[in-house]
Amino acid sequence: MKILGIETSCDETACAIVKNGTKILTNIVASSKKIQAQYGGIYPEMAAREQVKVIIPVLDETLKKYAQEVKTIDAIAAAIGPGLIGSLLVGVETAKTLAFALNKPIIPVNHVLAHLYANWITPPSSIIHHPPSFPALCLIVSGGHTELLLMKGHGKFELLGQTLDDAAGEAFDKTARLLGLPYPGGPEIEKFAKNGNPQAFNFPRGMIGSKDYNFSFSGLKTAVLREIKKINSLSSIIYHPSTIISDLAASIQEAIVDALVKKTLKASQEFRPKCILIAGGVAANSRLREKISFEICRLKLAISLFIPPPAFCTDNAAIIASSAYFNFKPVPWQEVKVFASL
Ligand code: KG4
Ligand code: ZN
Repeated sequence: MKILGIETSCDETACAIVKNGTKILTNIVASSKKIQAQYGGIYPEMAAREQVKVIIPVLDETLKKYAQEVKTIDAIAAAIGPGLIGSLLVGVETAKTLAFALNKPIIPVNHVLAHLYANWITPPSSIIHHPPSFPALCLIVSGGHTELLLMKGHGKFELLGQTLDDAAGEAFDKTARLLGLPYPGGPEIEKFAKNGNPQAFNFPRGMIGSKDYNFSFSGLKTAVLREIKKINSLSSIIYHPSTIISDLAASIQEAIVDALVKKTLKASQEFRPKCILIAGGVAANSRLREKISFEICRLKLAISLFIPPPAFCTDNAAIIASSAYFNFKPVPWQEVKVFASL
């Protein structure tokens, strides 16, 4: 079965065609991040206008690369939320129009849960890919969500914990802004962190010792702001400016990664899943990838770890098509509606 996925929940406009939920036939992603960066973050009206501008060219390119009759596509899938309503509507209305015009089923997809399906997709560089098995412990870390879930099957989730304030990606974005780094902050912090000392500043690891599986990242933002004010009030003789940024970035990254890894491994020891799946934009972070792999070995946990290639951690439409395949629940196109939050 070949599914055309459409993703427009935020500032990416993406279309992909995926076979049997695992094999990518075409995958096109356009991003308005550079435009958003000029405003220091997402400006919803601007994001929606960019979606309108590029959805047809992205769809057109996807179908050209597919190079087969459009009629051979079996179904259409669209991310219906959570996300920015203006942006979501562009993709969803396009999907509904296609479903109506081609007389194909349409499958509404939850964007956040769809991130997990990057772990079912065969990476373009691989020939063989073993799919994850259940129960799977899932850590979804994106710009708007941080959730720890127990996945007992497709569409069968138990929420173990979530952030009580900022999402992990939001923590990267907000602290990067405090450091004067452009949006999106995650990749910027990661870049500067490579030359920094992660122990230079002891930033809070929100709720790291709590018995539950929740997270909190808002205290980190306040602590970083306090540290920056302190540094600014001192003479820059103590520190070279680029060293300060690198040390702050490395310490911020370490604090976020520590909290995520600690709670995920704690849940893994309690629930004994068959595998751990990490997904969402923050899963692209090399320190997170390295630290969780290292800790699994150090604790001698007999568990498989799945983290998608970085390009499939951030928003794309292949995850939407894959999720639709494994959760194939078509609805009449007239009934497909968008939603902003969970
Ligand atoms: O999943 P995603 O592409 O979009 C949402 O669904 O939100 O995630 C975007 C988030 C942003 O907050 C961005 O800063 C973060 O993922 N991100 C990263 C990295 N790449 C993207 N955070 C840390 N390290 C990265 N390499
Ligand atoms: Zn996302």
